[in-house]
Amino acid sequence: MADQLWRSRPADLYGRRRHDRLFNTLWAAMTVFGGIAAISRWRPSQVVPVPRTITAVVAKREMLTGDVVALTLVDPDGGLLPSWTPGGHIDVQLPSGRRRQYSLCGVPGRRTEYRIAVRRIEDGGGGSIEMHEAYAEGDTLVFEGPRNAFYLGTGEGEALFVIGGIGVTPMLPMIREAAARGIDWRAVYAGRSRTDMPLLDEVLAVDPERVTVWADDEHGRFAGTDELLAGAGPHTAVYVCGPSPMLEAVRVTRDQHAEAPLHYERFSPPPVIDGEPFELELARSRRVLAIPADRSALDVMLDADPTTPSSCRQGFCGTCRVTVISGGVDRRGRTAEGDDEMLVCVSRATGGRIVIDA
Ligand code: FES
Repeated sequence: MADQLWRSRPADLYGRRRHDRLFNTLWAAMTVFGGIAAISRWRPSQVVPVPRTITAVVAKREMLTGDVVALTLVDPDGGLLPSWTPGGHIDVQLPSGRRRQYSLCGVPGRRTEYRIAVRRIEDGGGGSIEMHEAYAEGDTLVFEGPRNAFYLGTGEGEALFVIGGIGVTPMLPMIREAAARGIDWRAVYAGRSRTDMPLLDEVLAVDPERVTVWADDEHGRFAGTDELLAGAGPHTAVYVCGPSPMLEAVRVTRDQHAEAPLHYERFSPPPVIDGEPFELELARSRRVLAIPADRSALDVMLDADPTTPSSCRQGFCGTCRVTVISGGVDRRGRTAEGDDEMLVCVSRATGGRIVIDA
C-alpha cells in the first residue's frame, strides 16, 4: 500500500516523488508495523525507482477547434492514474517511436481521467499529426509521467497568465488552481481568432471578469507586450506559455522592471544562440551529419531517423543523451551531462567533429 501511495504522488521533472508531513507520518507508522525490511524498501529520502510507463485507454476523442484534438485517457481497469499538479505533463510514446510531451489540461488533481490537447502542425516533426491520426476511442496510449517543470508558485498574491493558443493547456489547470487558492489572478488569452482558441470557454468559465481575450482577426494585428502585460505590476507573478516569439517578447519586456518571478514554458525548442557549424559522426552507421549553425544536432538526426529518442528538446529531460567517443562538447543542457555525454538537443561541438555512439 505504501508503495502504491508513493508511486501515486506527483513527480518533479526528474521523476522524484516529494513527501510531506502526512506522507511521512503514514510512512513512519507503516515502517513501525512493517519492520526493517519495509524500511529498506521504502526509505523516502531516496529517489525511488518508479516504473512510470503507463498504458491508458483513450476514453474520448474530441476536436476542440479545427486543428486541435483533445484525448481523455483512463486506466484500462478503471483505477486511478498517478496524481499530478497543474502545469504537469506526460511523455507520450507514439507508435512510430516518437516521444512527445503534452500538458495535462483537465480538472486539477483529477485521477480518474487525464486530458491532453494537441494542435496539428503540418510542417512540424510529424508528432502532432501522428497524435491526431493514431488514436481513436478505445485505443491504448502509452506514456511516462506525469512530471512537472511549471509549477504554480506557493507564495503568489497576484498572478497574470499570458496565454498564446495551444499554450492554454498547462494554464487552464493553473488558473483553476489560482482561483481555488484565492490568488488575485488575471489572464490574457491571445490567438488568431476566437474559434481558433482551444478551451477558451473553459478559461472564461473560471471567471470571465478576469480574462481578456485578444483575437488577432478582431484587432487586425498580434497583441503587443503592452496588451499582454497590461496591469502587471512589479509584484505580479507572470506565467506565460505560447509560441516562441510571444514568449521571448514577454520575457524581454518583463525582465526590465519586475521583482516578482516570470515563469514560462516552451512548446518548441529554443532558438540556437551563438551556434557554429560542426560535423556529427554516428559511429555505428559511420554516417556523418553536417550540423548547421542555426540547427541542433537532434534536429538533423531526426531528419535522418525520425525515431531518434527525444522528448523535451530543451535540454532538461535527458532523453536524447548520447555517449561521446571523441570530440569536444559545448555542454548547454539544463540537466547534468557527464564528461563523455552529450544532450544532442542543445549541446554542440566546440569545433570540428564529434563522434557519438549512435
Ligand atoms: S530531448 Fe530532453 S534533454 Fe534532449
